[in-house]
Amino acid sequence: MASALPRVLVLNGPNLGRLGVREPEIYGHASMADLEIAAARWGAELGLEVEARQTDGESEIVGWLHEAVDAGAHVVLNPAAFTHYSYALRDAAAQVTTADLLLVEVHLSNPATRESFRHYSVVAGIATGTVAGFGFDSYRLALSAIAGKLGA
Ligand code: DQA
Repeated sequence: MASALPRVLVLNGPNLGRLGVREPEIYGHASMADLEIAAARWGAELGLEVEARQTDGESEIVGWLHEAVDAGAHVVLNPAAFTHYSYALRDAAAQVTTADLLLVEVHLSNPATRESFRHYSVVAGIATGTVAGFGFDSYRLALSAIAGKLGA
């Protein structure tokens, strides 16, 4: 039987497949596989059907945002470096929120405390909200915010 729970896609951009190996002093020691498992568990606790994905490709993440709109799924989005320059991703993310679906931008680190090129997000202006700086907990907080908004 199909799940009646609200669906949330947790979408991750380039280099996040390298979590655990990439700059662990910034991004921690856990892997994307660990995040996928944790996100599904948090979703179950919050009454959400959560699926986490990662890609290095701009066209793939744009396609997943289109899929979210067409499926009526909410989105937790870590656009990674696309955050700072991808207008294609921004335009796709805007379709989520204009469809009255929730989109929470998340970051493991706090980009505002890092290099100046990380200070600007092309996504922030169309997101429902942003959570940054709490490692994996940024994702849990984002899912919790979605569950709270939905009254799930
Ligand atoms: C990031 C921050 C971005 O500036 C960076 O390009 C990433 C990860 C984060 O989660 O902290 O790849 O989105």
